[in-house]
Amino acid sequence: MTAVLDDVCPTATDRRVSFALVPAPDEAVPPVVGGDLRVPLVTGERVTYANLDHAASAPALVAVRDAVERFLPYYASVHRGAGYASQVSTRAYEQSRDVVRRFVGGRPDDAVVFTRNTTDALNLLEHCLPAGTHVVAFDTEHHADLLPWRRRPFTQLIAPTSAADAVAKVGLALGTLAGPALVCVTGASNVTGELWPVAEIARVARRYGARVLLDAAQLLPHRDVDIAALGVDYVAFSGHKLYAPYGAGALVGRADWLTGAEPFLAGGGASRSVEPGAVHWQDSPERQEAGSPNVVGAYALATACRTLEAAGRDRLARHEAGLTARLREGLARVPGVALLSLFGEDVPRVGTVAFAVRGWDAGKLAAVLSAEYGIGVRDGLFCAHLLTRRLLRRADSGGSAVRASLGLGTTAEHVDRLVRAVAEVVGRGPSREYERRDGRWAPVRDPRIIPDLWTA
Ligand code: ALA
Repeated sequence: MTAVLDDVCPTATDRRVSFALVPAPDEAVPPVVGGDLRVPLVTGERVTYANLDHAASAPALVAVRDAVERFLPYYASVHRGAGYASQVSTRAYEQSRDVVRRFVGGRPDDAVVFTRNTTDALNLLEHCLPAGTHVVAFDTEHHADLLPWRRRPFTQLIAPTSAADAVAKVGLALGTLAGPALVCVTGASNVTGELWPVAEIARVARRYGARVLLDAAQLLPHRDVDIAALGVDYVAFSGHKLYAPYGAGALVGRADWLTGAEPFLAGGGASRSVEPGAVHWQDSPERQEAGSPNVVGAYALATACRTLEAAGRDRLARHEAGLTARLREGLARVPGVALLSLFGEDVPRVGTVAFAVRGWDAGKLAAVLSAEYGIGVRDGLFCAHLLTRRLLRRADSGGSAVRASLGLGTTAEHVDRLVRAVAEVVGRGPSREYERRDGRWAPVRDPRIIPDLWTA
């Protein structure tokens, strides 16, 4: 990479936009860091970790880790330094904006604001809404796309029964409003994996002059997104779910609201000039990026975008669809298992599958899967309390659920191991005794040691 950096950045004054700082990936199926991680079981054996928790946080792509490592010698201040490394870092940061914009199909004049994650991006957008903007969102959204809007005039729609019902409900709600409005919708549910009818909702929104925010945190890791083609005004997503866990996410979309608002954070970078009693702020995106930018995070995120694109997103999606079907069919055969679903079985979805098992505490089942099978899942209500509780009531299945979520590191063996584990545990019970410790289930006698990474 050193040679590549030197080649593309021969002088500090060469400011042509080029994507050469983001290395071209050559792997057909992008491997992830930790794909061969071995973890201990309660028996003392070690097995390959079956990470089925991608919807919460996905592992880094090897290409992302390697790119970051190659970049780090050049790491220096962004937008603030005359030194060569600062110029390389600034260039890498600005190029990363272009890569991210293209990856989500952004319009040339869309602002690309690097944020910490989706929650940060959506709180930023909420801050920037023009006064009086009315927000419309379903109560099925995860908390990042629900709680910020409650600070505004807000119509919280009740869960629809189908994609068509969702579109109709949005139209009905918008028909009662006057003035600026924003419709917020997820691309894929973080609980059920079901895809939402984003293009249709955007069409209805346009009819009423409303804007649309697409929460793509759960969609973008699995599917192509083109906001211009979808007719969406804003898209938010997280690097830590997109195989780039280096602390950056993004908000991409119409610059006018972002520039029309006061900076979300006040500070250097956002300000053009400061007088004794006044401050002149930058336009977006800088206006909404006060403080030293996270160039490592932005560069990692852009590298992930390029790596996924080069790998062929449709091919990856087809591969995941096969594993998802295998998982759903396998779990559905286990007596007492209820797969949680809002729109029904036969709808398009990504590989995120929440389920409950009659008579089983989800936290205990997740602990058994970890301790006895080396499987990582999430349990609880998944930061989508309203939706998950509704689905659990409908399935008549306890107070919380288990979620298995697939990603690039998932293999058929992981899926089969989970199905076998759930069937065995439900059929004959766990092979150890479990107790609640510090609010979580754990084996009563647990020989597994959580390593201290500073002394290990
Ligand atoms: N929204 C993230 C999840 O579903 C936190 O796990």
